[in-house]
Amino acid sequence: MPSTRAPEEREGALRFTPRGFTNVQELYYFARALQNYADSSIELRRRFGDVIRRRRPRAGLWLMHPALLKRVFRTNVRNYPKAETYGFLAPILGNGLFLSDGELWTRQRRLLAPEFRQAEVNRFLPVILDRVERLLGEWASTAPTTPRDITDDMMRLTLWIVGGAMFKSDLDEEAEMIGHDLEVCLRQSTWHIFSGGLLQPWMPTPGNFEARRAAARLERVVRGVVARGRAGELGGDDVLSRLLVARDPETGEGMADQQIVDEVKSLILAGHETTSLTLSWIFYLLARHPAVEQKLFEESSRVLGDGPPRAEHVPALAYTRMVFLEAMRLYPPVPGVPRRALEDDRFHGVDVRAGDTVVAMIYAVHRHPDFWERPDEFRPERFAPERVDAIEPYAYAPFLRGRRACVGEHFAMLEGVTALAMLTRRFHLERVEHAPIGTRAISTLRFARPLRMRVRPR
Ligand code: HEM
Repeated sequence: MPSTRAPEEREGALRFTPRGFTNVQELYYFARALQNYADSSIELRRRFGDVIRRRRPRAGLWLMHPALLKRVFRTNVRNYPKAETYGFLAPILGNGLFLSDGELWTRQRRLLAPEFRQAEVNRFLPVILDRVERLLGEWASTAPTTPRDITDDMMRLTLWIVGGAMFKSDLDEEAEMIGHDLEVCLRQSTWHIFSGGLLQPWMPTPGNFEARRAAARLERVVRGVVARGRAGELGGDDVLSRLLVARDPETGEGMADQQIVDEVKSLILAGHETTSLTLSWIFYLLARHPAVEQKLFEESSRVLGDGPPRAEHVPALAYTRMVFLEAMRLYPPVPGVPRRALEDDRFHGVDVRAGDTVVAMIYAVHRHPDFWERPDEFRPERFAPERVDAIEPYAYAPFLRGRRACVGEHFAMLEGVTALAMLTRRFHLERVEHAPIGTRAISTLRFARPLRMRVRPR
């Protein structure tokens, strides 16, 4: 296979020496990675450097330097398609935007991206406000002594919001069902992978039965919602209604129902857990950093007053935005992004072979000491508007960068910043226990155990 060279390498700029493992180290780190690959990546980088060659579970490389990420996601992005590395999601998500590659992906991205442009997402603000108000109502009727599971609250909130944006009319129950069933299917597929082939989908285990039931209900519920959309029962501005009438600007073709079903599932899956995790990690961080919480409260009270947030308030919530960005640096919801190399590649002294799995370790890059001063500290000031341009672009990539970057970034920022401002304006949250909670990284960066907090009205 031909070898392609990055301009940076021709210029002889950065060079790395990939390090490999002994057999014993390979097994040890494989076990550590299964447990929590994000945390183990920090340990690995300290010991072995920015590029690590691995043989298990598949041959490949872990990349932990921004220059290497830039090669994979920008300068030679065509050599690193996505679908194969997320093959385990295919039975759940089909051919939606999240998983597809090639021409289908190009066409679908062209159709979907306009829905989520910066200028378009403000139309979702009423849905966001409505659903946050609903959660505030629940919190208001909770005794201040009764702890709540905040991870669960944030998960429901973001499901209601993405459901409201997708379907407009009150289909929150359906959105919750879809979210729940996607989670069950995802959990079981992850078990299949982690079992190294010992657990197969056809086996009559309770987990497989549950996943099959969830998959059937998921398909039925999404098809039902799409049918209601076809019958004109939804709003006009929601994403589904617009997808139903969307036409490819080049070919004039619309989308088949199966494609729409796959897009709905992909958007709901990709569009709720990530935002909900960031919000939960923020409440965890605020409990440890009361001065930051106080500044957030002051900003939300000053900017929003007593009324509901309006679109023009959002840019003025500058500190809230900084907190959101810094929380995603410390706890990126997607801590590692895998790709599979199509052809051999060589860059910065690193040899990639065709078929290698290449994992961009976002979590380790976000805590790389060459790019972040005191990387493990929570310091929202890093993202102050006057400092943000100095950040090396590929040293910060919670939404990824390049052509496969998150399509929902503006939506997520609007939702996250608005929800955080509304919640901190009305409530102060206190942890029930004070011990640190570790991370549990599987596909997303979750909490090792539930985050339980008491919610106290201000
Ligand atoms: C804090 C919130 C979010 C984070 C950190 C995040 C992060 C990411 C990342 C890292 C990817 C790339 C994954 C890969 O290529 O392997 C991605 C893709 C994607 N995200 Fe997000 N996301 C967030 C919110 C959302 C929301 C709210 C939506 C939709 C409403 C969404 C929809 C998608 C879709 C459809 C893709 C696939 C895009 C493509 O391949 O063309 N995400 N996201």
